[in-house]
Amino acid sequence: MSWTLATAESRYVVSLAPERLGLVLDHWGTADGEPWSPAGGEHFEVRADVTPLEYVALGTRQVRSADLVVDHGNSLVGARLVWDETGESSDDGDRCTLAVGELDSTGALRVTLHLETARSHDVVSKWVELTNTGPGTLTLPRAFGPAWELPIGPGARVDTLSGRWSREFTPATVDLPVGELSLGSRQGLTSHTYAPVVAVTRRDDVDGAEHGAFGIALAWSGSWRLGIDAAPGADRVRVAGGVDDESCVLTLGPGESFTSPKTLGVYAPQGTAGLADRWHHYQRVVLARSTGLEHRPIVYNSWYATGFDVRPEPQGRLAAAASELGVEVFVVDDGWFTGRTSDRSALGDWTPDPVKFPVGLGPLIEEVTGRGMRFGLWVEPECVNPDSHLYRAHPDWVYRAGDRPLVTIRHQYVLDLGREEVLGWVEDTLRRVLADRRISYLKWDMNRPISDGGRPGDPYGRQWSVQHAQGYHRLMRMLRAEFPQVTVEACASGGGRVDLAVLGVSDVVWTSDDTGPRDRLAIQHGFLSAYPAHVMSSWVTDEPDRVDREPVSLEFRFVVAMAGVLGIGADLLAWDAAERSRGAELIGLYREIRTLVHVGRVVRHGSPAEPVYAVEYGGGPDLGDRTCLLVYARADRPDHVWLTPRTLQAGRAYRLRGTATVVIGGAGVEVPFTLSGDADVLVLEPVG
Ligand code: DGJ
Repeated sequence: MSWTLATAESRYVVSLAPERLGLVLDHWGTADGEPWSPAGGEHFEVRADVTPLEYVALGTRQVRSADLVVDHGNSLVGARLVWDETGESSDDGDRCTLAVGELDSTGALRVTLHLETARSHDVVSKWVELTNTGPGTLTLPRAFGPAWELPIGPGARVDTLSGRWSREFTPATVDLPVGELSLGSRQGLTSHTYAPVVAVTRRDDVDGAEHGAFGIALAWSGSWRLGIDAAPGADRVRVAGGVDDESCVLTLGPGESFTSPKTLGVYAPQGTAGLADRWHHYQRVVLARSTGLEHRPIVYNSWYATGFDVRPEPQGRLAAAASELGVEVFVVDDGWFTGRTSDRSALGDWTPDPVKFPVGLGPLIEEVTGRGMRFGLWVEPECVNPDSHLYRAHPDWVYRAGDRPLVTIRHQYVLDLGREEVLGWVEDTLRRVLADRRISYLKWDMNRPISDGGRPGDPYGRQWSVQHAQGYHRLMRMLRAEFPQVTVEACASGGGRVDLAVLGVSDVVWTSDDTGPRDRLAIQHGFLSAYPAHVMSSWVTDEPDRVDREPVSLEFRFVVAMAGVLGIGADLLAWDAAERSRGAELIGLYREIRTLVHVGRVVRHGSPAEPVYAVEYGGGPDLGDRTCLLVYARADRPDHVWLTPRTLQAGRAYRLRGTATVVIGGAGVEVPFTLSGDADVLVLEPVG
């Protein structure tokens, strides 16, 4: 039996393996392929070891890694899964689904593999539902989702995005001739360390230009792991992952089920360059609630200007300056709530500080909205300072690992979202904060990892990272359902929680705390290889930056922020009249190109480390066939810089806006650097 699931440009074909071992991937690509057939060479291996199964339990095979480890609690570990003769598929002309069941030979566990595609995009989604069908309790030290058996072996080349705080999304390529590569987070959230997305190609095919590239991502915001297993000599490389199997053990009582996070895969015949397009498209058409401007306004955020010193009068003056520049929403960052004078106290006490705001936030909101801007607030609802009314009232609401002393990071603990009363309290707090409907933007922060997850005495306490991520997603969904007018910016000390699950429940993400323009450009370069411009929040801040001290022009700083959802984080009260008027002009320029930036096809030219780097946004017919290039140059750039736009129609004539220059699709254009010597914005519009 075989099933074909169609995407926009590819087909994902699976069939039943011999001996009812489960599903195998026959073929994944644009053209038809040969079905997988059993090969010889089973000496010292069982049949399951040489079968490219979509889902494997420890106990079914030994040589290659397993996706599921089941502990039956009576010293029996593992499972022998066989197809249970169920398989339901559907195809409504767009969406294709398949659900196939498997049973453990003990009868204690049922596994349902889910696969889903749609013809409107190129992503294949897979997840698994595990149900305890026996009388006893099962524990699952590992419960990944279905795996991806990629036909690219032996070995693989794996592109990752890795980093740390203020250095997120740095591309790094791993050549894996043999062995297992493991990426992940044990921090209870996605992490700055690794992004849960990889691009995988053949080792002998740089960037997959000849044989294509596969992108695999995990839609999960808690602790996670992705493993890339290149078994010696094997022609398939297995990519699998899900909830982290080092810090999490799931418990399934009789009749209970667990649904794994989704893993998503995409195939691009053009190689890694084609993966970005496909991920961006999926995130636009499936994950985003809209790509319109209502949820990606031009932000002013006061954090870098005032820090915790949030007072109505200076905030009002900043708001006046921001509105003159053309800002659309004024966001008061950390420091507005009761007793918050530094990061040492008050987290959890979400009412306006009576000292700073004796009559509440009303007058400031009035001031901001009276100037035609929306008003927004910063919150960090998952955390609490020990020095807060909340902690003093509910010291038992934070995660605890037995009697281990609690660890503070940034002087704060994490609230246990696995407890219904805590989650309910956070929900009600958010409802109260947003009761004033003039608050229509929320920046949701999370400034520490969860180092002490757990709940003494609770058999489900070992799955705190799953409960926390589920709780966080529930809160984000509540915001969307009950406060649809509120734009939500997701942040975790910068880009510590960016993944395909967060992108399904938020509108924009704060990519990094490093706003130094050169550093930021490098971070954005990595980010755009997997995540789209319409979610990439980016602010213009002051020079010199706290981290990146290389001076650049004001124009350069704006053009960096124009690459996504532009905001301003600078101290506008320190800007002179010339800077303010230039800022207003540059915001005007951004307004003209921002739809193209948000939904256009992104092509990155070179790397930010080179003397000249550019990001191109091609509109295609839907956007009047306009193209725009954001160009960044270093001091050692050549006098004459030529770029060849790649999203123009071959042979069609385009005028370079503001000049008499005509560029023919396929040919190069000289960058005039009219904006400044180190940055330019080129807009190409079709002639006639
Ligand atoms: C970390 C965020 O990334 C910053 O933008 C800012 O909101 C601070 N937290 C506030 O504490």
